[in-house]
Amino acid sequence: MAEELQIKGSTKKEKYEELLPQIEALIGGEKDVIANMANVAAALKQTFGFFWVGFYRVIDDELVLAPFQGPIACTRIRKGRGVCGSVWQEARTLIVPDVEQFPGHIACNSASRSEIVVPLIHNGEVSAVLDIDSDTLDSFDETDRHYLELICKQL
Ligand code: SME
Repeated sequence: MAEELQIKGSTKKEKYEELLPQIEALIGGEKDVIANMANVAAALKQTFGFFWVGFYRVIDDELVLAPFQGPIACTRIRKGRGVCGSVWQEARTLIVPDVEQFPGHIACNSASRSEIVVPLIHNGEVSAVLDIDSDTLDSFDETDRHYLELICKQL
């Protein structure tokens, strides 16, 4: 694996297309999930400059904060609570264009305006979620969903 990410594209789609094989190379040889989550969070932050990007893992009956990049965040989220807890419950990606319009949204940071949360599924069960927050409204679309779901499948 190269020491540095090589991202030259200018559109979001181009960046994801370049990032995908590099993430594969980065995590393919490593079996520790925490190490891989840490590098994926860093790679996404570095490529797109997201306000907050990170993981929560399902541990017993809660989501527990895992590797992330960005400001400090809530450490535990219950099933069905907020965007992350809803994604765990529903086992599907949620795109939230305006967090203030999402009932029960958990404001870990008041600067967060829009959000996408993608589940990681192992043996038919949600094992973790990838959460990305933006400080601008309506930052995420079907392109993000498509590529972030592919990245989560690699983990
Ligand atoms: N806003 C999330 C909580 C996690 S933080 O944004 C990092 C939610 O509503 O689930």
